[in-house]
Amino acid sequence: MDNRPIGFFDSGLGGLTSVYELHKLLPEEKVIYYGDTARTPYGSKSPDTIRRFATQIVDYLVSKNPKMIIIACNTVTSWALDSLRERYPELPILGVIRPTVRKVVNDGCKRVGVIATKATINSDVYGKSLKAMEPGIEVYSLACPAVVPLVEEGFTDTKIMELTVKHYMDDFVKENKFENLILGCTHYPLIAEHLNKLYPDIRLYNSSAEVIKDAKDILERNDMLACGSDLTDRYYASDLSENFIAMTDYLFAGTDFRVKFVKLED
Ligand code: DGL
Repeated sequence: MDNRPIGFFDSGLGGLTSVYELHKLLPEEKVIYYGDTARTPYGSKSPDTIRRFATQIVDYLVSKNPKMIIIACNTVTSWALDSLRERYPELPILGVIRPTVRKVVNDGCKRVGVIATKATINSDVYGKSLKAMEPGIEVYSLACPAVVPLVEEGFTDTKIMELTVKHYMDDFVKENKFENLILGCTHYPLIAEHLNKLYPDIRLYNSSAEVIKDAKDILERNDMLACGSDLTDRYYASDLSENFIAMTDYLFAGTDFRVKFVKLED
């Protein structure tokens, strides 16, 4: 048994969708989350900047003594997973991409769409990893850079978001005729309703959820599951936007948690 918290982080509130999945699968686990709301979005930034921001956050989370860190961000996973693992070789650090790729391949998908930030699409990590596991698979990738800022601004359940999704997706879906779509950004489960309504025949794969199954396996195998912890979940943000607070209230209503502003120095 290990009652230390699991550290999560993202550029903003997208990674909260992964914590939501953790609560469903492992309700005994406690969380310490950092959302870099002051510097979101990461998806339009350079790999060096992404690595620098991610390192600052992981250093901060490590100072809180987590038993594991989940990079609840595809953009950071694409560009910083290896350097973060090198920096903390003793700590289990999980990215969101490999578990999602494994699930898609295990399900036997042949034609797969991937939507993500510009930085994730430019890295081609999904394309390369899918083809490394399943050489015959066809992968179609698309960056949707306007989605994250709209989510961060609280436009998730609006007509503007629906039109944005349609703007990106209509030709992409028509031209490539894939049956499966990877939500390659942890903000995107929040637009799943729009996608399901517009493209009901496409099966969605949620990177925020797949990583939690891996976390469960690792914790079980190493006898590190939490039990009866009296810690409180903590959600830190570099800018306490109204929307960050509203989202934690919405996703975690009924659980015991605290939200706090924490600035990280450059
Ligand atoms: N939610 C993140 C991801 O999974 C980051 C999005 C962004 O900041 O652009 O890629």
